[in-house]
Amino acid sequence: MAASLREPSFISSPSSSTCDTDDEGVRGTCEDASLCKRFAVSVGYWHDPYIQHLVRLTKERKAPEINRGYFARVHGVNQLLKAFLRKTECHCQVLNLGAGMDTTFWKLKDEDLLPSKYFEVDFPMIVTRKLHNIKNKPLLSKPIVELHSEDILHMDGHTLDSKRYAIIGADLRDLSELEEKLKKCNMNTQLPTLLITECVLVYMTPEQSANLLKWASNTFETAMLINYEQVNMGDRFGQIMIENLRRRQCDLAGVETCKSLESQKERLLANGWETACAVNMMELYSRLPRAEVSRIESLEFLDEMELLEQLMQHYCLCWATRGGQELGLKEISC
Ligand SMILES: C[S@@+](CC[C@H](N)C(=O)[O-])C[C@H]1O[C@@H](n2cnc3c(N)ncnc32)[C@H](O)[C@@H]1O
Repeated sequence: MAASLREPSFISSPSSSTCDTDDEGVRGTCEDASLCKRFAVSVGYWHDPYIQHLVRLTKERKAPEINRGYFARVHGVNQLLKAFLRKTECHCQVLNLGAGMDTTFWKLKDEDLLPSKYFEVDFPMIVTRKLHNIKNKPLLSKPIVELHSEDILHMDGHTLDSKRYAIIGADLRDLSELEEKLKKCNMNTQLPTLLITECVLVYMTPEQSANLLKWASNTFETAMLINYEQVNMGDRFGQIMIENLRRRQCDLAGVETCKSLESQKERLLANGWETACAVNMMELYSRLPRAEVSRIESLEFLDEMELLEQLMQHYCLCWATRGGQELGLKEISC
């Protein structure tokens, strides 16, 4: 039997317990995002056979404008991610920072689009939960095991490292810890690297997110960043979003950078990235393939287009590149 098809055993070793009891509200956003994605998938907005193994379906329905917003978010991030994978012919690595219950690794495997290695990072408590599911759901563990060429897969409560996939429990605000853990899992700083921060940076102070962005642009010679988060937060609608989250003990510590598309781009350019683009989600929605938009708009009736527009105008997709001239990274757009 081929070595890659052998069943390696998951070897668990005790890990030092990391106390991350502050940040409860921020960790709670993982639940929010994954429940919304889970619900949208159940209605048919996009196909994801894996999310049901990581997130339970609640009885609560999400509003159509929320579902359309998530559709545009997932579509936009995927479009940029796939463009990067095509440009690098998958000879690259992907670092999904603040990945939560994201299922991209498994979907890329199905599409034969896996990068050389796919890393996920989140708070240790979130990683422990995800690892529990990975370990106990064959649909999630099988692809990892099959791609692994050795007999033993190393795993502790906060980390799993395999040949093509690693998940790491770390605080993105502690860069020396982050780098050390990534290197332990064989992160290769010479490979073209895509970093994804999908609704993550806004939970850090501007100084902390600047440090993370600077670290990324200094560490990888050839890199691209995809960032999805709030924008236009200075207006009345933005203020209501901030107050709603604060009431749920979740502080948008980085909201200052979410003033405008310009402030988003400026932060990227000020922290070592050579090109930076940003588009609000309403604009992105209007550029989506018409057939896809017709399909998803027929799924649920929405009578308040104005609310959808307001919501979409308060989120944006940004991307930035560094190096990669020969690969054509600067040409990537959506
Ligand atoms: C809104 S959720 C988004 C999850 C995922 N990116 C998605 O879009 O489905 C934000 C995620 O970032 C993680 N996060 C926020 N700040 C972090 C930090 N300082 N270190 C590690 N993870 C962090 C949270 O735990 C959470 O899983």
